[in-house]
Amino acid sequence: METQTLTESQKVHIETWGCQMNVADSEKMFAMMKEAKYSMAAQPEEADLIILNTCHIREKAKHKVVSHIGRIKELKKTNPNLTIALAGCVAQAEGKKLAIEIPAIDVIIGPGKIDQLPDLVREHKAKGTKNIALGFEKIDYHNERKTKEHQSVYKNIETSLDGKNEVSRFVTIQQGCDNFCTFCVVPFTRGREISYQPQDIVNQAQQLVNNGAQEITLLGQNVNSYGQDLIKNNILPLTTNGPFVDLLATVANIKDLKRLRFTTSNPHDFTKPLAKLFAEQEKLGKYIHLPVQSGSNQILATMKRKVSVEEYYEKVSWLRKSVPDIAISTDLIVGFPGETDEDFEQTYELVKNMNYSFIFAFKYSPRKNTAAIRFKDQIDENIKSSRLQRLNQLQNKITLALNEQEVGQIRNVLFLYESKKEPGIYYGRTPHFRLVRAHSASSIIGKELPVKINGFNATALTGELNI
Ligand code: SAH
Ligand code: SF4
Ligand code: F3S
Repeated sequence: METQTLTESQKVHIETWGCQMNVADSEKMFAMMKEAKYSMAAQPEEADLIILNTCHIREKAKHKVVSHIGRIKELKKTNPNLTIALAGCVAQAEGKKLAIEIPAIDVIIGPGKIDQLPDLVREHKAKGTKNIALGFEKIDYHNERKTKEHQSVYKNIETSLDGKNEVSRFVTIQQGCDNFCTFCVVPFTRGREISYQPQDIVNQAQQLVNNGAQEITLLGQNVNSYGQDLIKNNILPLTTNGPFVDLLATVANIKDLKRLRFTTSNPHDFTKPLAKLFAEQEKLGKYIHLPVQSGSNQILATMKRKVSVEEYYEKVSWLRKSVPDIAISTDLIVGFPGETDEDFEQTYELVKNMNYSFIFAFKYSPRKNTAAIRFKDQIDENIKSSRLQRLNQLQNKITLALNEQEVGQIRNVLFLYESKKEPGIYYGRTPHFRLVRAHSASSIIGKELPVKINGFNATALTGELNI
């Protein structure tokens, strides 16, 4: 292959599937490639490097990626210099196999190795080699140089995203997950749980705010257990409220930061001090995502969620005591192995009682390496589909009823982006995380403005400014 030097003209196109951790990783990968003199390609056809940042959580997520590679690789016919990089959780889980099956993939890079991206791309472009970096480094908490190296994915976080999502930014506070819920691939695709140091997190959040971010979302798969590893390794002291609440309180103190969110909050490690912080700290808003997965204790036990339905209700009651009108959303899995009609009815009841603002409900998808793939009583696809449909219909009614109650209210909306299809239409979120669309003659991106809500559907509210 012809040797190519990196010039100003190189362009990168990144496609992202999956959770917000992947969105954050894509931002980091873009920042790294920008430092290597790449700019953002508007279309994949213009790109010299296409990064596919993938999700492995359900079989469907993986299929989407594989069929997408089939289409993308055709671009190599008109652009022989195109490099295709497979990143993210599919890369970690199946990258070695896919590298053999799909020769068009040039670089394979797992979530634990994204700091190596520019080097791998450079080497591929220079030598034509297929470059693979997978797995996770072992962290040595007391070796400062190694810790810094480990966190090198963080550098350049302040890099502008060339106009995309500048108002609301992510800061990853924790890698991996140690929970091993029996349905879940994340501990295999993201490795063990490692918390970043509070000072590094606060510095990043500060840099982002200095560059215009109004809202920060702290990210991890299990944010409520943030810092437990740092305590075990004597890096953080034991405190009354625990390291996650301490971290939130410190980040919330950043002047000019308007809103602070976090996800995902596993109910198992959810504490009373965190519920209390919602009452004290306005920047946290009036919304939390608290995945329950099932309304049946029997299913929760076989999922190894470590929280009973009763404990979940209790934790929600702490939150509602702090903020009576708090909006709560959740994740649910239907058709987990062994789920009887009765188990499902319990989930249905829970959703009915909880008044969630919205839910993400999924059909159980058996995943390689996880314990549940070997469980007996796998559920028929048709049953899964009808349960999913019933649950979504129920929630749809609840969401519509809650959105209807918003009509006539005046809400402070932080505007995040302008509609691509309808110029002059701006979208933002209320403190309850409800999406609002409103018209404005000039840009209101990044502004927090009072909006009078005058309409709704199941996905968004509409409202008017200048009230
Ligand atoms: N760390 C988060 C969940 C991250 S995965 C938590 O513990 O709450 C996001 C969601 O995907 C999960 O909450 C679950 O509802 C869903 N999910 C994960 N594995 C799945 C599987 N094998 N089949 C169907 N849904 C799954
Ligand atoms: Fe997966 Fe459970 Fe970890 Fe969430 S807490 S990422 S569901 S193993
Ligand atoms: Fe998917 Fe990986 Fe996130 S499997 S949900 S992208 S951690």
